[in-house]
Amino acid sequence: MKLLCLLGLVAAVLADPAIQRFDGEKVFRLKPTSERAVWFMRGLADIATIDFWRPDSIDQVAVDIDVDFRVGVKDIAKIQDLLDESGLEYEVLIEDLQPMIEQQLDNKERSATQHSYIKYNDMDTINAWITSTVARNSNFMSLTEIGTSYEGRPIYAIKIGAKTGRSKPAIFMDCGIHAREWISPAFCQWFVQEAIGTYGSDPTMTNILDTMDFLVVPVINVDGYSYTWSNNRMWRKTRSRKPGSNCRGVDPNRNWDAGWCTVGASSNPCAETYCGPQVESEKEVQAIANFIRLHKKSIKAYLTIHSYSQMCLFPYSYTYDLASNHNELNKIAKGAINTLASLYGTQYTYGPGATTIYLAAGGSDDWAYDLGIKYSFTFELRDTGRYGFMLPESQIKPTCEETMLAIKYIANYVTNNLY
Ligand code: ARG
Ligand code: ZN
Repeated sequence: MKLLCLLGLVAAVLADPAIQRFDGEKVFRLKPTSERAVWFMRGLADIATIDFWRPDSIDQVAVDIDVDFRVGVKDIAKIQDLLDESGLEYEVLIEDLQPMIEQQLDNKERSATQHSYIKYNDMDTINAWITSTVARNSNFMSLTEIGTSYEGRPIYAIKIGAKTGRSKPAIFMDCGIHAREWISPAFCQWFVQEAIGTYGSDPTMTNILDTMDFLVVPVINVDGYSYTWSNNRMWRKTRSRKPGSNCRGVDPNRNWDAGWCTVGASSNPCAETYCGPQVESEKEVQAIANFIRLHKKSIKAYLTIHSYSQMCLFPYSYTYDLASNHNELNKIAKGAINTLASLYGTQYTYGPGATTIYLAAGGSDDWAYDLGIKYSFTFELRDTGRYGFMLPESQIKPTCEETMLAIKYIANYVTNNLY
């Protein structure tokens, strides 16, 4: 038995020598209740390599915003001592990241290559699923390759809706803009399946898909997502190279033409919130932006799925100014999170990005809104930090079920309020 385990371990290591381990790494939560605590956090970021989980960077740390951050193993002792000496309130959210990474794959029926809606699927499995699902439902779906990534992977959009022979208004939804937020692509896959599975039996879904099309991009950041499987589970950005820097990747949600790089973004190529050398520098962002511009007349709503925090956000995030239909967006978001909570009691907060989460420019939601798509929402799915990005597979089903209610609520509103 022992020998078998050992052989298994050896095989696993041999199979994937590139894969980074996170043994002994911890995730802390600091609750800054004063300016002193904010300064303290800045100090930590100066002396150690810190991976901000929430908010996404040091610039967004402020009084009364909990900060979740990962510390590499070599800095743990130092950081923990400083936290203890500071007398500031903090908790250890994750004691050891490596077992957490292994435990998130808790679906016992898993097989590496078989697609499943209740496990996390790798990029190849998702792509094979996209092709076969569209082929099986060709009367109801069509597939467009909207572009390719920096490393040459295809980026797909699936169109779903009853074919009427006329051009229909549409709702655009994307997943997987940030590579490590694995629950996001899982939701897009679930959505596609639910949409076809309930058309004809669920009156709301039937009405939505008779009137409108859904345009779903299951994974935008295909290179980053692949990299989280093959090398580094904690990767967030794209994988593009920059001349003059050894650091790779741009934050694809800081790269859009919406107050680009003015607030809550960094011009340092090594930062997790690097806005890129210019607007739309990333091929993945160009692909989506061009596709949306091309279909601008028909797209009535823009939805983008992230994790974690349990929030429903709407414009603006690059300014404190309110959106011109702020009251309507607020009402829709409230309705969406209330129906979401009705299933399992999951509590979401909602509001404009700037005041609900933080100021951060260059996001896709603000860009789509300023283009004229007046219903634009960002979802931050489960959880609130217990597992963070490592949400276990056993939570895929309940998370997707409740999120489905919120998305349907918004889609139904848009269907009944076409403009
Ligand atoms: N966590 C998301 C991000 O930082 C929130 C996006 C909210 N919208 C925005 N335009 N910043 O990308
Ligand atoms: Zn994100």
